[in-house]
Amino acid sequence: MISETIKLANPERPIHDLIRSRWSARSFSEKAIAQSDLETILEAASWAFSANNSQPWHYIYAHHADTEAFQKIWSCLMPGNQPWCANAAVLIVSCIHKVNESGKPNNWAMHDLGAANATLMLQATAMGLHGHPMAGFDKAKTIETFNINADILEPVAFLALGYLDEAEKLEEPFKTRELTPRSRKGVSEISERLG
Ligand SMILES: Cc1cc2nc3c(=O)[nH]c(=O)nc-3n(C[C@H](O)[C@H](O)[C@H](O)COP(=O)(O)O)c2cc1C
Repeated sequence: MISETIKLANPERPIHDLIRSRWSARSFSEKAIAQSDLETILEAASWAFSANNSQPWHYIYAHHADTEAFQKIWSCLMPGNQPWCANAAVLIVSCIHKVNESGKPNNWAMHDLGAANATLMLQATAMGLHGHPMAGFDKAKTIETFNINADILEPVAFLALGYLDEAEKLEEPFKTRELTPRSRKGVSEISERLG
């Protein structure tokens, strides 16, 4: 069973279909993502807003077919993410530039990478793909594996991308997670009107 309809957001107020349709999937089919489509998705990320237009993001990625490179990224994931990520079409390491052009710390880099990753995911959703952000990875191993200059770049979140497949393909507990409806705090819980 493809879990698409179970996972659609069920908001209190109507929101845009694209936002409603994005969710963090785990069951990916064997279908590859065309390099041109992936570049479109990365281009979308590049059009996110950022403080001072500093664009403090950097993406390191591999397609599933690039076995050695894909394996390298996969091996930096935590055991809770490795089983289902093995079927992702593309794995991405999203990083921040820690310092700006004048060498000063960029205090908004995390914010801006989050905006870029959200934009990336929405573009992927619009193209019929599914994605999943992850903090469950070994940062020290990632820095070592990709020879990252940790004074300049910091890996922040991994992203899995792919075409959706049946939830039944997954082992537990991932199958149950794939079939559990999503929920959110209400607007009154996350906001307060002044005046
Ligand atoms: C920064 C970040 C780190 C996350 N880390 C993981 C992770 O390591 N493993 C995982 O399965 N999901 C991870 N998630 C996915 C969240 O659990 C998911 O976004 C949240 O439950 C809301 O579900 P939705 O994305 O389907 O709306 C992460 C999400 C974000 C934004």
